Amino acid sequence: MKKTILLSAAFALALGFGAYTTGVVNAADSGPAEITIKADGKKPVKFAHKKHQDLMDCATCHKDGAKLDTSAWDMKTGHATCLDCHKKGHNGKNGPTKCNDCHTK
Ligand code: HEC
Ligand code: HEC
Ligand code: HEC
Repeated sequence: MKKTILLSAAFALALGFGAYTTGVVNAADSGPAEITIKADGKKPVKFAHKKHQDLMDCATCHKDGAKLDTSAWDMKTGHATCLDCHKKGHNGKNGPTKCNDCHTK
């Protein structure tokens, strides 16, 4: 299920996601289904991109449709982008919050 990017841009703004580079994403290119986000000095983060795309609008993470550059992320950016929503919940569903749920392997 692909949704438009603009619809939830305001939502993404409200959550204050930062750290993106120029460039846009659109429904024609969904990117990889599975992504491993490198975390220096910490186990890498496994991220089921496709699964999240089915749960929410692209702009929830790709603010204004912008590409993301996780190589520039640190704990603050990563946890603000991922963990905050898992705690708050999305459409009544919470995501995992234990360290090893994300920092696997
Ligand atoms: C829960 C957050 C989240 C959602 C929702 C999401 N993405 Fe992503 N997306 C990411 C992350 C994280 C990356 C990895 C960026 C990197 O490699 O540094 C990524 C990467 C991508 C890439 C590869 C280019 C890039 O930005 O690095 C494309 C294309 C992309 N996403 C498209 C989409 C589309 C289209 C949607 C909606 C159908 C979507 N994404 C929904 C988090 C998300
Ligand atoms: C806007 C809310 C939201 C954002 C942002 C979000 N998630 Fe989630 N995530 C969820 C929800 C809800 C679930 C539970 C889905 C379910 O139970 O069906 C989930 C599930 C997961 C799971 C366990 C399920 C699986 O198949 O792997 C992992 C790991 C995960 N998320 C990692 C991440 C990472 C890493 C990011 C940031 C790049 C992220 N999430 C961003 C809401 C979010
Ligand atoms: C919802 C997924 C998720 C959960 C749960 C989570 N993290 Fe993270 N964490 C991330 C992401 C994404 C990053 C950003 C990766 C990076 O640093 O590039 C990150 C980054 C970090 C970093 C910084 C690594 C670096 O780049 O130097 C540390 C330290 C860290 N997390 C510790 C923890 C601890 C401790 C817990 C449990 C209390 C935890 N994390 C739970 C997703 C998560």
